[in-house]
Amino acid sequence: MPGFEREAVAPADVTVAVLAALRPAAEPIRAEASSQGIAFVRRLFEGWASGANRFDQPGEIFLGLWQQDRLVGFGGLNRDPYTAEDDIGRLRHVYVLRSHRRRGLGALLVRYLLREAEGHFRIVRLRAASPDAAAFYRRLGFAECADPAATHVVPVPVGPSSLKTPRHGPSRTNGMAARG
Ligand SMILES: CC(C)(COP(=O)(O)OP(=O)(O)OC[C@H]1O[C@@H](n2cnc3c(N)ncnc32)[C@H](O)[C@@H]1OP(=O)(O)O)[C@@H](O)C(=O)NCCC(=O)NCCS
Repeated sequence: MPGFEREAVAPADVTVAVLAALRPAAEPIRAEASSQGIAFVRRLFEGWASGANRFDQPGEIFLGLWQQDRLVGFGGLNRDPYTAEDDIGRLRHVYVLRSHRRRGLGALLVRYLLREAEGHFRIVRLRAASPDAAAFYRRLGFAECADPAATHVVPVPVGPSSLKTPRHGPSRTNGMAARG
C-alpha cells in the first residue's frame, strides 16, 4: 500500500489504543474542532451519547492516539452505513489536534485502522471533509472514487494478520490496551 511505509513507526511517546469512552479525554478535541467549525466531531459525540454509533459492531473499532496521558487524536472504522454490502468499511471522525499535525500521527492512526479492517472488510472508503483531508488520504494511497457516498477508497490487504483474534468480547482490543 503506497504511502504507509514511511509512517509505520510511532513516535516513542505516542501510543495507539482502543478508546473506550470519549469523555473526559476527548473533550479538548471536541472543543478545538468546534472552534474550527468542524461538525463531524460534534456528531461523533452525539452518536456516542445516544448509542447510535459507538463503533462496537462486528469489524468496527474506535482508536485514540495518546501522547503520554494526553489524547491527541482519534478515528474510527465503521461498517459503511451507506451501502447494503457488508464487506465495505468506512473511516470516520479522523482528527489530530492542530498542535500535533504534520508529524505522521494521522497516517499512523489510519494505518492502524486499516490493519483492523483486515479480515472484516474488502475495501474501506470515506468522505474527505476538506481539500486538505483529500490530500492526506491521497498521500496515504487512497484513490478518488465517484460514488455519491464516498470520495476516497482503498483496498484492504489480505495477509497473515487477517487471521487475528476477533476483537469483540474480551479480546476486542486485539492486543491493544483500551483507554479512555
Ligand atoms: C487530516 C488530518 C487528520 C491529518 O493529520 P496529520 O497527523 O497532520 O497527518 P500526517 O502528519 O500523518 O500527514 C501525512 C501526509 O499527509 C499529507 N497531508 C497531511 N495534512 C495535509 C494538509 N493539511 N494538506 C496537504 N497534505 C496533507 C502530507 O503529505 C503528509 O506528509 P508530510 O507532512 O510529510 O508532507 C488532520 O489535519 C486533521 O485532523 N484535520 C482536521 C480534521 C479532518 O479534516 N479530518 C479528516 C476527516 S475526512
